[in-house]
Amino acid sequence: MTFDITSTDPASAARTGTLTTDHGPIETPIFMPVGTAGTVKAVHQRELETDINAEIILGNTYHLYLRPGLDVLEGAGGLHGFNGWKRPILTDSGGYQVYSLSNTRKIKEEGVTFRSHIDGSKHQFTPEVVMDIQRTIGADIIMAFDECTPYPCDYDYARRSMHMTHRWLDRCIARFDATPDKYGYRQYLFPIVQGSTYKDLRRESAEVIASKERTGNAIGGLAVGEPAEEMYETIAIVNEILPRHKPRYLMGVGTPANILESIALGVDMFDCVMPTRNARHGILFTTEGVINIKNEKWSRDFSSIDSGLDHYASNFYSKAYLRHLIRSEEILGAQIASLHNLAFYLWLVRQARLHIRAGDYVSWKNEMVVRLMQRL
Ligand code: GUN
Repeated sequence: MTFDITSTDPASAARTGTLTTDHGPIETPIFMPVGTAGTVKAVHQRELETDINAEIILGNTYHLYLRPGLDVLEGAGGLHGFNGWKRPILTDSGGYQVYSLSNTRKIKEEGVTFRSHIDGSKHQFTPEVVMDIQRTIGADIIMAFDECTPYPCDYDYARRSMHMTHRWLDRCIARFDATPDKYGYRQYLFPIVQGSTYKDLRRESAEVIASKERTGNAIGGLAVGEPAEEMYETIAIVNEILPRHKPRYLMGVGTPANILESIALGVDMFDCVMPTRNARHGILFTTEGVINIKNEKWSRDFSSIDSGLDHYASNFYSKAYLRHLIRSEEILGAQIASLHNLAFYLWLVRQARLHIRAGDYVSWKNEMVVRLMQRL
């Protein structure tokens, strides 16, 4: 994997780059649609690839391990073979989903035991197990097993948890480096910075993560309820320490404004369920602001969903029609809204790249964070 920085912004830490994997290149900054269970919910592969031109998608270790299970995925030649996606895939390690979804989880030094949210069956994730699972899923980018601390989190818990995440990282690295690439293409392990919102812990974690000299690095434990300003301060501190010449991935973030501000702080990669989950609930991100399409005010608005976006679903269907579909819980409503929101998020990062290259990123960003977040 190579990461070439192709331009830098004179007024901020923003940069554009190309991350090259065996499944093709990724232009950064990039937004990665979340495909939890091997599908970006309500979106066809062909739409993802040709319509909105997603360059990489996410999968989740926790979900794919529980269903369909590793024997099915291995039989298909990995997730790429199973769902037909030809471009890069990144998998999250389960170090987040296991805490938010599973029942009766127990976190110990060895790993996490939990009960499946599907059938109550008992399982254990250890750093070693999670490396093996992600190798078998066939992700191009594999995430370290970590604990994402909640917010607020007392200092002592955050410190002890962070140190355990660091010890787990050493076990992840030992296992990952001792096992071969599963399907002939190269797989890469990204470690994750933790430390809650404590500056000294974040610095210590970033130093440890940087010292492992992996291909790319991630920032976790953010967007868990802390004020946005605190998140930005934390990112700034961490990015001072994480090497400039390697991709930085901010996990689980966020709103359009969060993404634009974090790009200015030197983040290159993002993922979030927000565009797809909000779409299913009728919340649309547009080039003019945020729309709750279920509101009465759209019932006779026959203008297109977003004429500012050069995209089929955004231009072809009207607000009134989409409102009707979402309110009627028609499947097509979820499809159109999901496609539109993802098209918007990918438009947003493409625009960010254009403005970084043009050298006016900060002034453009300042205008956009106000415009894009207003409620219409
Ligand atoms: N997704 C969002 N935040 C996190 C995090 O801290 N760790 C992991 N593994 N995934 C995340």
